[in-house]
Amino acid sequence: MAIGYLNGKIISSSDPVLPIDERGHQFGDGVYEYIRVYNGRPFMMDEHMNRFFKSAEAIKLNLNHTPDEIKDITADLIGRSGLDDCDVYMQATRGIAPRNHLFPNVPASISMTVKPFRAMDETLRENGASVKLLPDERWQNCWIKTLNLLPNLLAKQEAFEAGAFEAVLVRDGVVTEGSSSNIFLVKEGVLITPPATKHILHGITRIAVLDIASELGISVDEREFAPEVILEADEVFLTSTGIEIVPVTSADETKIGTGKPGAVTEKIYEAFMKRV
Ligand SMILES: Cc1ncc(COP(=O)(O)O)c(C=O)c1O
Repeated sequence: MAIGYLNGKIISSSDPVLPIDERGHQFGDGVYEYIRVYNGRPFMMDEHMNRFFKSAEAIKLNLNHTPDEIKDITADLIGRSGLDDCDVYMQATRGIAPRNHLFPNVPASISMTVKPFRAMDETLRENGASVKLLPDERWQNCWIKTLNLLPNLLAKQEAFEAGAFEAVLVRDGVVTEGSSSNIFLVKEGVLITPPATKHILHGITRIAVLDIASELGISVDEREFAPEVILEADEVFLTSTGIEIVPVTSADETKIGTGKPGAVTEKIYEAFMKRV
């Protein structure tokens, strides 16, 4: 059963609970995490907590909790939900105070939901997805997982309306990431991905994939590349908590590699599924 949490209280995940003067609601003044739970266990929870606390610190938000306390709340909620395979969404905002750009002197507000896992269309994994290249119009600090996702939403919607699964973003002539995913290429057996600068979100699935590559003896090159390099790659794939690893077989309606999911992508995906 889906379940919610707000500032120490267990609530229904669909309860209307936030006053209008809530800073996440009014300003997007907050940070979030999205975590997959496999067989009752949150996957890479320490890495998610690390990023959650780093994001909060980056926006000068005091969470008033330790990572262990958040982990305990999460475990309790998962237990109460009775769900084995589920999604945890958590967000922290700068609290509830009359609307004013200056920071209020009130405690952070922490909310969470645990919901049944929203499965993606598995034919995408079998046949490969398409992407559309679009300008990266976000701010400079994309490594912070903030609630401000408007440029990401606009890019995803534009890609969707053009019949593509994901928007791949390009800033100053180099590919950064997807609107809600990280991107990897395989060229002559080498796994290439943009470096973890402040212009991309440091994906948890990205960390897992880099670790798997080193385990499998696949060479990795974390470097910047131009959008044309995607079209010349042997394989391309996207990663995120929600989609795990999805092969990309066309970009801007041009076929990539053989036009089918590649062998290296499949090998990495298999190793990933073993971990979860
Ligand atoms: C912009 C962006 N990049 C990358 C990712 C992938 O991150 P993770 O693997 O931690 O889910 C996400 C996830 O939502 C994202 O929003």
